[in-house]
Amino acid sequence: MERTVVQITLTGLLLALASTLPNKNDWDIYSFHINSTVTSRYATTVITSRVVNRMNESKEIEFHVRIPKNAFISKFRMFIDGQVYEGVVKAKEQAQQQYSEAVSRGESAGLVSSVGRTLEEFKTSVTVAAHKKVTFELTYEELMKRTHGKYELQIHARPMQPVRDFKVDVYIHEEAGISFIDVKGGLSTKALANAITKTHADKQAWVYFYPTADQQKMCDSCGDQGMNGDLVIVYDVSRDNGLGEIKKSAGYFVHHFAPSNLPRIPKNVVFLIDQSGSMHGKKIQQTRTALIHILNDLAEDDHFGLITFDGNIFHWKQELVQANSKNLENAKNFARNIQDRGSTDINQAVLQGANMLNVHHREGSASILILLTDGDPTSGETNLEKIQSNVRQAIAGKFPLYCLGFGFDVNFEFLEKMSLQNNGVARRIYEDSDADLQLKGFYEEVATPLLTDVTMVYVGGTNLTQTNFSQYYNGSEIVVAGQITDNDIETFIPQAVAISNNRRVTFSNTNDAVKSTGRMSHDHVQRVWAYLTVKQLLDKELKLSGPEKETAKNEALELSLKYSFVTPLTSMVVTKPLGESIDVLHKPKEGETPQRGQPPVDQPKSQKTTPLAKFLHFTQLMELGSVHRHFVNDTFFCSFASIHWIVAEVFLLKAENQTIPLCFDVSGAVLLKLLHHSSRELFVNGELDSVANGGFSRIVIHFKTDQHVEIGTMGVTVRDGQTVTHHTGVTVIIRNKEIDIAAGDMRLVILVHEKNGEKFLWPVLRQHPSTNNTEGLLDVSFIFFFLCVCVCSDSTVDYTVASPPTMNCWLMSAESALQRPLDDFYVAQL
Ligand SMILES: *[C@@H]1O[C@H](CO)[C@@H](O)[C@H](O)[C@H]1NC(C)=O
Ligand SMILES: *[C@@H]1O[C@H](CO)[C@@H](O)[C@H](O)[C@H]1NC(C)=O
Ligand SMILES: *[C@@H]1O[C@H](CO)[C@@H](O)[C@H](O)[C@H]1NC(C)=O
Ligand SMILES: *[C@@H]1O[C@H](CO)[C@@H](O)[C@H](O)[C@H]1NC(C)=O
Ligand SMILES: *[C@@H]1O[C@H](CO)[C@@H](O)[C@H](O)[C@H]1NC(C)=O
Ligand SMILES: *[C@@H]1O[C@H](CO)[C@@H](O)[C@H](O)[C@H]1NC(C)=O
Ligand SMILES: *[C@@H]1O[C@H](CO)[C@@H](O)[C@H](O)[C@H]1NC(C)=O
Ligand SMILES: *[C@@H]1O[C@H](CO)[C@@H](O)[C@H](O)[C@H]1NC(C)=O
Repeated sequence: MERTVVQITLTGLLLALASTLPNKNDWDIYSFHINSTVTSRYATTVITSRVVNRMNESKEIEFHVRIPKNAFISKFRMFIDGQVYEGVVKAKEQAQQQYSEAVSRGESAGLVSSVGRTLEEFKTSVTVAAHKKVTFELTYEELMKRTHGKYELQIHARPMQPVRDFKVDVYIHEEAGISFIDVKGGLSTKALANAITKTHADKQAWVYFYPTADQQKMCDSCGDQGMNGDLVIVYDVSRDNGLGEIKKSAGYFVHHFAPSNLPRIPKNVVFLIDQSGSMHGKKIQQTRTALIHILNDLAEDDHFGLITFDGNIFHWKQELVQANSKNLENAKNFARNIQDRGSTDINQAVLQGANMLNVHHREGSASILILLTDGDPTSGETNLEKIQSNVRQAIAGKFPLYCLGFGFDVNFEFLEKMSLQNNGVARRIYEDSDADLQLKGFYEEVATPLLTDVTMVYVGGTNLTQTNFSQYYNGSEIVVAGQITDNDIETFIPQAVAISNNRRVTFSNTNDAVKSTGRMSHDHVQRVWAYLTVKQLLDKELKLSGPEKETAKNEALELSLKYSFVTPLTSMVVTKPLGESIDVLHKPKEGETPQRGQPPVDQPKSQKTTPLAKFLHFTQLMELGSVHRHFVNDTFFCSFASIHWIVAEVFLLKAENQTIPLCFDVSGAVLLKLLHHSSRELFVNGELDSVANGGFSRIVIHFKTDQHVEIGTMGVTVRDGQTVTHHTGVTVIIRNKEIDIAAGDMRLVILVHEKNGEKFLWPVLRQHPSTNNTEGLLDVSFIFFFLCVCVCSDSTVDYTVASPPTMNCWLMSAESALQRPLDDFYVAQL
């Protein structure tokens, strides 16, 4: 049998998709609201989109929005015709299982997720009847992180068409007082600026953005499709420079600690710069530019070191030197001459950098190690675990390691793990025209250490989030949440202890810093605690191994479920109206490419038994997002990051210009259940032809319990023009090469084919019974759980027509195609 790999090309699929995209006249978003409420830096945002199907036929209507990566989706609902369809958060495996079950029940399924620089995509759709309406409502939550002395609430608006009733409402309530508030982002410019109203009154602020439909076409990235851009609300809160702000409610507390009136601590910083060949071109240029800017910003009492590395390690100076003007000038010259070449020895680079800092210990200073790389370790030690353990040992918790991963070729998870294991964080630097600004921006976050060895102490507190921080930088914020034991506020004593400029300092509760929440909703503080705990457990899960990893994972999962957060461990299952797909929504990992972590679960056997009957399955692939594919030998693996299936009788996988059906083999001399229609007492079974070219040697039809018609290839019952009518209402018409069986609203045709002088039978269900109590191979819902199903191309003959053509098909295992064991279709006797 000939087997060639046919490439499904993405363009082909997208072209197929494009033709099915909604025409903008088909449906109308008559209202689109984004409502964001921020309390104590915790933002809860609700996006509500109301859509009407203007057509006189049912239409698939899409809801497609982008939300910040840092956020967790916590609720999704659809309102259609007085009914509410609400998403349920489940453990990922369980959701996956439900998804498969839905598929085998004949409901289709889809899942959605994707990543940009700061945003994730949420996409779903539902079929809406003619002239009916649907309301989509998505809620997500996030704790805003303070960087560079401010919080930023990013709201992405892209309704896909100008909307008459478009509104963004932001309400901020900060008990400590709002020190300033600004509105930035692409949507705050040009004609749209007029649509913004900002009100600020001490503890509260309101931002309204109500652009008219005309204004929505007039910003930089807007057009006939309406708006496409961000509104960024930037603000900060007033601070007392003491212990900060502590809110408590219902037995939970959250503490925001960000003193800024402290002297800066001189720092010792070592930059490790990857100059391997892959940094060639723009990346190395931008690195040079950023480094020169950063050197300019060093203070005179800072000490610094520079190491460039490829397969070898180059010290600019063997030791740390003071950041005086002479040394800086020299260093900048060195930076200007950094050239790309060679491989990547991350292990040696980090060890040498750590060593420089270790030998240069200065009392009362803060040491920082910054690694910039764009690739995997390729020379020296390349075993990732070995590198991590070497680095942990060399740093021994004495200073943080920050890893900047440049571009998408880096193993970001490796960098993230290594940073987390050494009290730092990893950051991705996007290959873009502003990469030097991203590098500089990151450096500025850690440029001004104010405290080291910060320990947050809460007597009378329990279930605390992280309390020890190796360094605290100006412009950032330390946030700790926890529970108050027995909700006893009297015995609850918060305190912060740290080292500032060689001195031990204690921040304690001088005035009444512990505020009970007034206007805040009851469970708000608890949700902040849950959010922060889950985030930190996910980090822990990444950096730990063994049983501790499992524990962290289980705890994170438990809390995600309890608080209904869609995290990397959970998925949201959205059940749609009867007969429509279930969607499973996953949160992607940072920079995740679609194939990661989703190995194919089902592979066609490479040594197949001789195929005897090859069934063709048809259904229509309507839409899909990104497709990943790779080939291992002649096996085609595909995983879909974002797919959506429509239930349809005909399922065709569209390759470039071609329509390729799916097929599967059933082999051996087995007896198969073709169609059982219990309410009509009609049962059709078939015996596979074990020697010939495929198809069946015998098919037996049972009516009631005592009437049977047997059709064989030489069969006596095959006679021209003879009509057999049974009192059960079943009609059998026997023609040349075709036996036609009609029972009520069902019609089954058995074709008699001949190949190489041998005859065989092929059953075709020409008219599907309208009731749903049928089963059998001819009646499986033609739906595929395509994620992780491997298919390879094959050729087959379409015996469902009288003059069968040979055609290409995607071969898959029977189990994948049928979504249940083939055994389910076996019968004991004909
Ligand atoms: C926004 O949401 C808040 C909290 O659910 C609610 O109180 C407020 O009325 C909403 N605002 C608008 C304009 O819908
Ligand atoms: C539905 O729309 C089509 C084309 O727009 C039109 O031909 C048809 O008459 C319409 N049917 C009804 C019932 O309005
Ligand atoms: C820290 O930041 C605040 C406000 O952003 C500024 O006033 C202060 O001078 C900074 N402290 C140091 C040591 O740079
Ligand atoms: C909080 O801590 C107590 C023990 O200190 C523990 O029994 C309880 O399960 C914890 N609660 C949560 C939600 O982690
Ligand atoms: C936090 O730091 C304190 C004092 O440095 C130490 O006693 C404690 O064990 C640390 N806690 C954790 C969880 O590392
Ligand atoms: C692919 O082929 C190579 C040899 O050509 C073989 O070693 C390998 O096992 C094959 N892989 C699979 C998955 O069949
Ligand atoms: C697709 O079809 C068009 C027109 O029939 C033809 O020009 C083109 O070459 C085809 N592309 C492929 C990849 O077969
Ligand atoms: C089958 O049809 C009956 C009656 O029409 C209905 O009650 C039942 O829910 C249907 N079952 C399925 C699985 O659709």
